[in-house]
Amino acid sequence: MAGRLEGKVAVITGGAGGIGSATGQLFAEEGARIVLVDRDTAALADVAARIAAAVPGAALVTLVEDMGEEAASRRIVEATIGAFGRIDVLVNNAGIRAYEPLAVARTETWESILRVNLLSYALLTREAIDHLRASGRGSVVNISSTHAVNPRAGMGQYDVAKAGIISMTKTLAFEEARHGIRANAVCPGLTLTPFHVRRAAEAGRSRQDLDDEAKGGCLAGRWADPREIAYPILWLASDEASYVTATAIMVDGGRFVT
Ligand SMILES: NC(=O)c1ccc[n+]([C@@H]2O[C@H](COP(=O)([O-])OP(=O)(O)OC[C@H]3O[C@@H](n4cnc5c(N)ncnc54)[C@H](O)[C@@H]3O)[C@@H](O)[C@H]2O)c1
Repeated sequence: MAGRLEGKVAVITGGAGGIGSATGQLFAEEGARIVLVDRDTAALADVAARIAAAVPGAALVTLVEDMGEEAASRRIVEATIGAFGRIDVLVNNAGIRAYEPLAVARTETWESILRVNLLSYALLTREAIDHLRASGRGSVVNISSTHAVNPRAGMGQYDVAKAGIISMTKTLAFEEARHGIRANAVCPGLTLTPFHVRRAAEAGRSRQDLDDEAKGGCLAGRWADPREIAYPILWLASDEASYVTATAIMVDGGRFVT
């Protein structure tokens, strides 16, 4: 049976992280040729080895790039075209976090969050646009957050960038519909990645503490596995979602309905 992304080439930023690597593996399982981009060289190599072992014959290229650098986008598009000759799917997923209340939020932090979490999505999309148009069925999936629409105390810079992603996604959808490009956002909720486990451990919090936090945090009462976020990304990337554009899908276990 043909994979759900057979014949497609997908670029995924933040490909060495929890959601990015799960998405990369799922895309490879479904027949896509993939380009994983990350600034973390070691983690990227680990992920590539994991995917190669899990999906024999996977067509996979890794690129070490800092999405905070403007020139990275051009290099990524050139390398993808050099390797695979086309771009059908772009998953803008790289993200950083900061924990500064607005009263003390530093200018440098604002700038770095906006540069990586928002501007890099715009720049890579712009650089890839001719190829996404040429695909005839281009799909851009931008990874936002449940906190784009439900802001909280303490992560204002991050939440503002995530809200901007939804707005930008809709603008892109309106502008590019006539070129056959769909643009959608996925808004994950609590998704357990090595980052969260590490951060909790540094703060002296156990895995049980993390699980307790999730119990009261959403209707599902637990953290998502990154693969549970990867599936909606896969669907939006695929032709199964051919009538879906300019939307933001909450994948948060019913986070704010409790
Ligand atoms: N995990 C969650 O609970 C959650 C919830 C909502 C939204 N998100 C969003 O999902 C996306 C993926 O998050 P994750 O949980 O997998 O996080 P993660 O920290 O595991 O992965 C993020 C990846 O992005 C990479 N990255 C960061 N800055 C970069 C840069 N300048 N250039 C290149 N690569 C860079 C990191 O090295 C890392 O591999 C992010 O945009 C995040 O904001 C995550």
